[in-house]
This record gives sequence, C-alpha cells and structure tokens, in this order.
Amino acid sequence: MAKTITLDYTPTPKQALFHKSNADELLYGGAAGGGKSKACVMEALILCLEHPKTHAYLFRRSYPELRDTLIAEALRSIPSALGKFSGAKYDFTLKNGSVLHFRYCGGMTDVTRYQGVEIHWLFIDELTHFEKGVYDYLKTRLRAPNTLGIKPRVRCTSNPGGVGHGWVKAYFIDSIEPFVLNKRTVFSPLLGRVDTKTVQYIPAYATDNPHISDDYIFELEQKPEKLRKALLLGNWDAFEGQVFTEWTDDPQKYSTGKYTHVITPFDIPKSWQRYRSFDFGFSKPFSVGWWAADNDGRLYRYREYYGCTGTPNEGIKISPREIAQNIAAIERQHGESNVIGIADPSIFEESRGESIAMQMEAEGVYFTKGDNTRLAGKMQVHLRLRFDEDGIPMMYVFNNCKHFLRTMPNLVYSAKNPEDINTDCEDHIYDETRYMLMDHPISRERKKVDYVIKEYDPLAD
Ligand SMILES: Nc1ncnc2c1ncn2[C@@H]1O[C@H](COP(=O)(O)OP(=O)(O)O)[C@@H](O)[C@H]1O
Ligand SMILES: [Mg+2]
Repeated sequence: MAKTITLDYTPTPKQALFHKSNADELLYGGAAGGGKSKACVMEALILCLEHPKTHAYLFRRSYPELRDTLIAEALRSIPSALGKFSGAKYDFTLKNGSVLHFRYCGGMTDVTRYQGVEIHWLFIDELTHFEKGVYDYLKTRLRAPNTLGIKPRVRCTSNPGGVGHGWVKAYFIDSIEPFVLNKRTVFSPLLGRVDTKTVQYIPAYATDNPHISDDYIFELEQKPEKLRKALLLGNWDAFEGQVFTEWTDDPQKYSTGKYTHVITPFDIPKSWQRYRSFDFGFSKPFSVGWWAADNDGRLYRYREYYGCTGTPNEGIKISPREIAQNIAAIERQHGESNVIGIADPSIFEESRGESIAMQMEAEGVYFTKGDNTRLAGKMQVHLRLRFDEDGIPMMYVFNNCKHFLRTMPNLVYSAKNPEDINTDCEDHIYDETRYMLMDHPISRERKKVDYVIKEYDPLAD
C-alpha cells in the first residue's frame, strides 16, 4: 500500500495565490522576507510531484546565493522520502522521475550552458539580479513534448533593485494590473506566429509572512527611507543602490521648473548654442541627445533619438552610416545647422578599419572626442542636478525625452566598483550625457543666478 507523505507547509495567503496562478509568466514579490524563495521551492516540488518525469530549473545569479537560499530551503523542506539531492550535480531527483535542477547564471556569458536543456518549469529567484537577455534566453528553453501533457510556465520572484530593476519594473509592474491575469501578445519566432501569453504580478510584503520574526521587520524599519520603502513596502520607485537619488521628475512642477529636472518643452531661442551627444551601440541601444545651453550655461536636453527596439536595453542593430543619415534628417527637418557633436571617444578607434566616426562623417555628421573619465563625469551629473536655493538645477530634460526619464532613475551602483555605476544597467543615455557634461564642466561652487523659465518668443531673435 502506498505510504502517504505529508508536506509540512502551510502557504501564507499570498503564497497560496502564487501556487494557484495559472499564468504563463508570473512575478511574485516586491519586498524582502515575503516568503519568495520558499514559495519557489514548494511550487517546483508540487509541480514535479503532480507531473512525473518533468524538469524544474531553479535559478539564482551565483552559486553561493543558490546554496544559501534555494538549496538550503529545499533541503529543509523536501522530505527525504520523496527523493535525493546530489551535491555534485545540484539536482534533487524525485522518485517519480522528476528533477529539480538548481542552477546559477551570472549573465549572458553563462546562458549557453543551458543551450541543450528542456525546461518544463522555469523558476528565477530574485529576477532583478538578471538582465533581460538572460530572462529571454532561458524562456526559449521552455518547451515540452505533447506526450507530457503539460503547459510549461515561468515563475519569478524579486525585490526591487539590482541591474534588472528597470526592465522587471517595465515588464511586470508598470505595464500590467497587479493580481489579475494580463494578456500579452508576443511574436514567437519558433512558431512563426503571434501568440498570446498571460502575465501576472502578485505583490507580497514582509508583513504578509508570519514566519519571519518581528525583529526582522523592526530591522527593516530602521533602514534609510529609500531602502526601507523598497524592501518593506516593495516600492519599485525607490530602491537600494540608486545612483541619482536627487533625480526629480515632478509633473506638477513641469511648468515652473522649480524642484524638478523635467520640464515642458519650449522653443529654444535661436541664439542658444546647440549640441548633440552620442553613444554608439548595435545589439545594445545607441543614444543621441540634443542639448542647448542658455546664457547662464544651463543645459536643456530638448530631444533624443534612442536606438532601442522597445524591449529595454535591446539595440535596433543599424549601421553607423544609417544612424548618421537619421541624425542628419532629424536636424534638417528642424532647420538645425551648427550643431556641435560630442561622442564616445571609442568611435574614433581605427584598429579595425574605418572608424565609426569616419563612417558617420561620410554622411555629414561630425563629432569631437568626448571625455570618458567616468567618476568625474558622474560628479558632473550630480553637480548639474543640484538645485540652487530657488530650486533651479543646471540641467533640465524636456519631458519628451522619455528614454532619459526611464533609464536615468534606474541606474544602480556597481558591486565591484561601488563608486561607479553598474555598467550592466541600461546606461547608454547616461554615457552620452556624461560626454556632453564633461565638455562643459561646472565647478562645485555655483553663483546664484536669477532665473525663471520664461515664455520664449520664437520671433524675438
Ligand atoms: N509558508 C511558510 N511556512 C513556514 N515558513 C515559511 C513560509 N514561508 C516562508 N517561510 C520562512 O520564512 C523565512 C523567509 O522566507 P523566504 O522565502 O526566504 O523569504 P524571501 O525569499 O521573500 O526573502 C524563511 O526562513 C522561510 O523558511
Ligand atoms: Mg529569498
């Protein structure tokens, strides 16, 4: 007679929603301590038990994290009567032939390890630790023969913060309603047709988990405000490691320009010098920013041309010549001549033949070499964002520069070089902005200037 094995697990109400979901792609989380890792392990176990001979893959960014979280949780929670863990393979093989594979993936360089695998149940714990490319790649491994009679699915958890913060927020938080199933139409290159997938976000907070101690919550409550909001309340707009915490995009103040860096566009006076800054990219986006300097040296980013597919941090893969033709067309259309170009110094590199700068010159688009001293450039961004006593910064961004508004607040510090930005972030607009600002450095001391945003009369000059 078959022996009954009882799992010692009572999901919290939020975990129960996670287990009940039949979405194709699900993000569970928000805050720390919400029982995310536990829910991943238990869901993988349940799916594998219900469907013999299926394979769950559970990912973390690094092996030590995997060992201390998912593997530790599995060893604690899965009764040994159900199967056996192999410390050499990091696989938990169940007696019904199903396997929980514990894996790590440090980035795009690691994804090819998973080229040959067939994933039935994909779990990614702390999704914001991964770039979008890793997520997309791992999803391509999601398939099952019809004979298994299952519908493969993706289950992710995450706190705000980390290199993937921007894309996870765009994909799971900003674009969909929480809790409900949201339909998303995607093109499947494999099937050669458009497919509908369901995507769901279930927010969970530390306070949803009665199994964590009050001390843990108290500990979280003592953290600096931004970090606390991110970790305790699962606030995706404020998170650990954000570099430009002074960045303020306040639509209520667009018209006055006080205590906001973003303003409503106005017609740039003809007398103001115009600039164009450029960061080249092919598989990653390229970025072109247009700037104008007023008589006080304040900069206005008034237009941008960002080579992104619509998927964050994915480039549109067009040649330097084509980018230059498009730049020239945009400037022609706006009647702009005498725009001074400043670019990433590496586009002047000639070791592999004609440089990118030369190819662009052939189309009549010229650049001078920007200064790529990273920390000095970062300081220039901070200095220009500083509000004076009247709430006026030295740099404004027009609210039509939507990729600037999207990517700048998402830049986070690097773990390897804590002074600098994590270059895995979508940092192309930031880079191009640095080249511009390093061309016009300002000093720490700033004289007070009388300044109000005026109504400009385009016919005045
Ligand atoms: N339903 C549950 N029953 C018992 N313990 C739980 C449950 N959910 C979470 N826990 C415990 O609470 C703690 C925090 O959970 P964890 O999954 O690590 O949170 P997170 O990954 O969200 O930070 C862990 O010790 C975990 O074992
Ligand atoms: Mg966890």
